[in-house]
Amino acid sequence: MSDKKLWAGRFSEPTDAFVEAFTASVEFDQRLAPQDIQGSIAHATMLARQGILSEQERDAIIGGLQQILGRIEQGDFPWSVGLEDVHMNIEAALTEAIGEAGKKLHTGRSRNDQVATDIRLWLRQEITALGEELQRLQGALLDLAERETDTILPGFTHLQTAQPITFGHHMMAWFEMLERDASRLADCRRRMNRMPLGAAALAGTTFPIDREYTAQLLGFDGPCRNSLDAVSDRDFAIEFTAAASILMMHLSRMSEELIIWSSAQFGFITLSDSFCTGSSIMPQKKNPDVPELIRGKSGRVFGHLMALLTLMKSQPLAYNKDNQEDKEPLFDTVDNLRGSLKVFADMIPAIRCNPGRMREAALQGFATATDLADYLVRRGMPFRDAHEVVGKSVAYCVDKGCDLAELSLDELRGFSDMIDADVFDYLTLEGSVAARDHTGGTAPAQVRRAIAEARQRLA
Ligand code: ARG
Repeated sequence: MSDKKLWAGRFSEPTDAFVEAFTASVEFDQRLAPQDIQGSIAHATMLARQGILSEQERDAIIGGLQQILGRIEQGDFPWSVGLEDVHMNIEAALTEAIGEAGKKLHTGRSRNDQVATDIRLWLRQEITALGEELQRLQGALLDLAERETDTILPGFTHLQTAQPITFGHHMMAWFEMLERDASRLADCRRRMNRMPLGAAALAGTTFPIDREYTAQLLGFDGPCRNSLDAVSDRDFAIEFTAAASILMMHLSRMSEELIIWSSAQFGFITLSDSFCTGSSIMPQKKNPDVPELIRGKSGRVFGHLMALLTLMKSQPLAYNKDNQEDKEPLFDTVDNLRGSLKVFADMIPAIRCNPGRMREAALQGFATATDLADYLVRRGMPFRDAHEVVGKSVAYCVDKGCDLAELSLDELRGFSDMIDADVFDYLTLEGSVAARDHTGGTAPAQVRRAIAEARQRLA
């Protein structure tokens, strides 16, 4: 295949060899080949319908492009850096394969609207695939929440024991975070699903094209309404990377908890051996590499968001070559997000809880202190006073080295004579969680309801 530049007409000197390699994008944008060909087939179909190409030319173009796609898929395509990018590599191969008709494909379009269309087609498909992976992870969380609805562990604020919660409730918090992520991705896909083709270089084209028809062929909701905007903005990529960053931020928080919970000091859960690795020097080690790596990858995705924002910042309308730099951050974001979701969805079902350890931990740190205060309030004591009374009882327990529930009734009555024998029902872990029995509360009955409702939304 000849490496002659498709735009060489006005040039009298050849491109500097380093500049040629420096400005080329084919090494990474060849990934867009299927979408480039899909877009070209729709474009040629529209051109023929409008009488701009003959039917024979259209058929030759489509046949040639399909053949090229086959070669690309088999790894049998001679990508050339001299031909700069995926678009010109494919066009040159088409002309070589079918002759004159190949040169007509670019009628009424530009690489500017072509590349903007290719990325949207690609990202649209990737978002759908990411959505499926995310849904699988959400399903795994529901199953785990269901398995451990009644399992009690300490809930934390400031990583200090706060109040007892159920493990199912904790899993459902993760589920909620991910449900918002799914809706952010769907929202981004919807806003992105407009077609740039027809904007040509920036101002539109003099040919009588039918953009609505091309948009329909490609499954877009319609053409972009302004040609300058269509070729220049990459806000959809930024929006996607922002949604991806938030999702990775959530995964990093979930990872962090798995790491803490699986440490010997906590021992709340055991991660399956398949998601951990050993140490080359310390024989006892089982390291939670997978969640650690996901925690690390979140930083890389946030970096891509910053890269894309900075890439777009202050660019004058319309297309500028800066935009060629959109692809690698975008591709890397998708690849790492997809990998992280996949491995998380595989890892969750293999988590084993250790309810004994969780219980032991919940019994330390006065997790039911608020329950004692609420008990006094129900008996008529103002909450601030109750807070004070319980604070003193806790200080007494700290000195004595015991839990509130281990004090005798007489000892408790020493702090307030409003306390009766029934107080012990409220100081147990089970009593504490069961009492938080309202929408969004940690009571197992509420968690069961939340799981059932979530299953319906997910279906
Ligand atoms: N490789 C380019 C990109 O990724 C394609 C568009 C180039 N257009 C141009 N006028 N140089 O953005």
